[in-house]
Amino acid sequence: MDKKIKVLGFAGSLRKHSLNRALLRTAVESKPDQMDIEIFELNDIPLYNGDVEKEGIPDSVKIFREKISESDSLLIASPEYNYSFTGVLKNAIDWASRSYPTEISPLHKKPYSIMGASGGMGGTIRSQMHFRQVGAHIDMYAMNKPEVYVTFASKKFNESGELNDEPTREHLKKFLASFYDWTMRFRDLQDS
Ligand SMILES: Cc1cc2nc3c(=O)[nH]c(=O)nc-3n(C[C@H](O)[C@H](O)[C@H](O)COP(=O)(O)O)c2cc1C
Repeated sequence: MDKKIKVLGFAGSLRKHSLNRALLRTAVESKPDQMDIEIFELNDIPLYNGDVEKEGIPDSVKIFREKISESDSLLIASPEYNYSFTGVLKNAIDWASRSYPTEISPLHKKPYSIMGASGGMGGTIRSQMHFRQVGAHIDMYAMNKPEVYVTFASKKFNESGELNDEPTREHLKKFLASFYDWTMRFRDLQDS
């Protein structure tokens, strides 16, 4: 691990006490030294509307797209809503997936990994599988393994959003070390 990489992280939940945002914050604590993770909030991204898009891309969307472009890879944490990922995440991805005559989608060929936390025993498996389907259409590069499914998450995070489960913390460290390697494969391609 000799090169520094920039990762953009975002959560598919807008909740202040979101377990998935707490998971992202734990990732920032558990990352390899050579990885920087910036957490981006999706709160200001408006609902996608083709009429609005024709008039001009909203500033919040421009910023989101720029942040994606500037990053080497994306770290996504999403809850599972009704066996899928959230509308908040889908909406943000829809905006970022758009290609324009002067600007290709910043998601195109972007390496990413996805993780999730849920209150029950599913651990966001179905949410993540749905996301991978969408990512394939956009031609994003998903890290297949290792995976992070935090089950019974409300028992593992305390009221301050700190992860109090050592096996999950250790797993997250390994996941992020693998994600560093995954991102570097594409960085090397870009650099060559
Ligand atoms: C509309 C809605 C649908 C949900 N559907 C599921 C589901 O299909 N599977 C699941 O495990 N949890 C489901 N949940 C529970 C969420 O996993 C749980 O609320 C989780 O903590 C939300 O993530 P957050 O803490 O990051 O906001 C649902 C919650 C909501 C609000």
